[in-house]
Amino acid sequence: MTLKNHPIKENTMAKFIVFGNQKGGIGKTTLTILMATGLSQPPFNKRVLVIDNDNQKSAIRLREYDEKNYEKDQPPYLIRAMSYQQIVASISDIDEMYDYVFIDTPGKLDANLPPESQEVTKILLLTDYLFMPFKAGALNLDATTDYVKILLQAQQHRSSSNRPLMIYGVVNFYKERSRINRELKEELIYLKENIGLSFMETPLKQYISYEYLNTYETMYLPKSNDPANMNFSIFLNEFFKKTQG
Ligand SMILES: Nc1ncnc2c1ncn2[C@@H]1O[C@H](COP(=O)(O)OP(=O)(O)O)[C@@H](O)[C@H]1O
Ligand SMILES: [Mg+2]
Repeated sequence: MTLKNHPIKENTMAKFIVFGNQKGGIGKTTLTILMATGLSQPPFNKRVLVIDNDNQKSAIRLREYDEKNYEKDQPPYLIRAMSYQQIVASISDIDEMYDYVFIDTPGKLDANLPPESQEVTKILLLTDYLFMPFKAGALNLDATTDYVKILLQAQQHRSSSNRPLMIYGVVNFYKERSRINRELKEELIYLKENIGLSFMETPLKQYISYEYLNTYETMYLPKSNDPANMNFSIFLNEFFKKTQG
């Protein structure tokens, strides 16, 4: 089986976005929920769908937890569990109903399958923007090599379409004045030079408030003095700009 057998996303209006990396615990679900919660509310007011494609169903579970506390309120966006096949089957409806579609994919690749047969790879053929989270100081280049290979394959397969796959690195868990930052800088330069990976300028810093992830309440409060709200507001503004093209 090759990638050629899989449909490339048509020129849909909705933006399909994946925070992807084969490493677990790197912030894929956190970033997905933060962006979805932010963009679905003022001043963005986008029609947002989160598709939980991960077996662990972290996004679904976060929403179920919140639903108990926000009984009376309508959630600002839906979180639905869907397989690749289900996404493909309803892609035109999804495209009509939403502006932003985030797909939370599994961290682990299936060790028994070649890159082109992985569900994650097929999902990348439907994706417009792939944001790859990196953890400052724990960036193990070997561990990401397979994923980068998959990305480049998907990107090449997509390059003939009118919606190429855009790839950005994102630094997560960033701590200011940390010794690991020098190490991180070197690794980022390596990734830029060797695989042409460009990075978001704003890192997502490490803050407790990001751990108390909430699927209802936006952290986009640009006038707040809270450091996490300030960091997130700058981050979301840059993210919004990058995904407007
Ligand atoms: N910027 C951050 N600051 C603090 N904690 C974070 C941050 N990003 C992620 N985390 C925490 O790290 C853990 C793993 O994040 P998660 O989003 O579940 O990763 P993944 O989906 O890649 O497995 C979670 O406990 C989450 O709350
Ligand atoms: Mg996750």
